[in-house]
Amino acid sequence: MNLMQKLKSDEPVLALAPLAGYTDMAFRHVVKQLEVDVTISEMISSDALIQNSKKTVKMIKKAKNETPYIVQIAGNKIEKIRQAVTILNDIPGIDGIDLNCGCPAKKVFHHGSGSRLLEDLPKLENMLATIKKHSNKTYLSAKTRIGIDSKIGADIIKACQNGGADFVSVHGRTKAGGYKSKVDYDHIALMKQLSNIPIIANGDITSHSIAKKVLDITRADGLMIGRGAVVAPWIFYQIKNDTKIVTKAQKQTIILKHFDNMIELYGEYATVLFRKYLHSYSKGYDGSAVFRQQANQTNDNDKMKAIVEQFFKEQT
Ligand SMILES: Cc1cc2nc3c(=O)[nH]c(=O)nc-3n(C[C@H](O)[C@H](O)[C@H](O)COP(=O)(O)O)c2cc1C
Repeated sequence: MNLMQKLKSDEPVLALAPLAGYTDMAFRHVVKQLEVDVTISEMISSDALIQNSKKTVKMIKKAKNETPYIVQIAGNKIEKIRQAVTILNDIPGIDGIDLNCGCPAKKVFHHGSGSRLLEDLPKLENMLATIKKHSNKTYLSAKTRIGIDSKIGADIIKACQNGGADFVSVHGRTKAGGYKSKVDYDHIALMKQLSNIPIIANGDITSHSIAKKVLDITRADGLMIGRGAVVAPWIFYQIKNDTKIVTKAQKQTIILKHFDNMIELYGEYATVLFRKYLHSYSKGYDGSAVFRQQANQTNDNDKMKAIVEQFFKEQT
């Protein structure tokens, strides 16, 4: 089944949310082995892509097992978005393009990108239509919030549909709601009801049971998980297999696999970059403060591996 067939089936599609600074190729590779259906790159600025920034080109690279793989772009000018799409057209292995219509970060918003696009829905529609017209990729999607200050989900869905999006991922907060306000799953449900295209629900899905609740309320065609996956990448496996159980041995294997991927991608810098993940992986475990201290004190990949092996061996 391809992604659209899955989105139209009874089984919910599971998507890894793009998290700049976290969901790089090393992380996506691991999550893909844990039964996620679709992965999305970190946000790529259309300006940076056009300028052929080396860092940006590296951020687009996909893992071997990562199909379908979607690249997310952000931008404020239709012509630059068109140019970015033309560049992506020449990169094989990308299955779709997602337009960022939700980022609330000051820098992005003031640039006129991300959630700022929700201020001018005809422009948003036009941007999507431009991608649709010029892209040679299979899928076009939008990732949005439910408004800037007020909740305008119905209008957003209309613009996305008219722009030719194949599906829409909805983070159930306004831009003003940041990352901590209550997620409005009822508003996502309303958008789903009004939509002719599949909807993926996003926001604060941090466990197998919350996933069930969100599906129940929203009737969405899929679930997108970000921060919950950084704490527990196995959450996709748990939802897919309807189980809460992930053994200690399974967790250790996943975490070490993630670190190996980081070493492959970043070489000697892997240890420094891996620390932020270890902070969330070790949350709630006895001895995590000492473990973090040890992890913070080493810059050596082999030593880090030994510390990780030891710590997660002891956990239950
Ligand atoms: C550190 C961080 C980075 C993020 N980067 C992106 C991004 O690059 N593109 C995007 O569309 N959303 C981004 N988001 C938003 C998430 O994709 C997601 O919509 C949000 O975190 C809510 O879902 P969650 O509760 O499952 O994390 C980011 C969020 C965080 C916390």
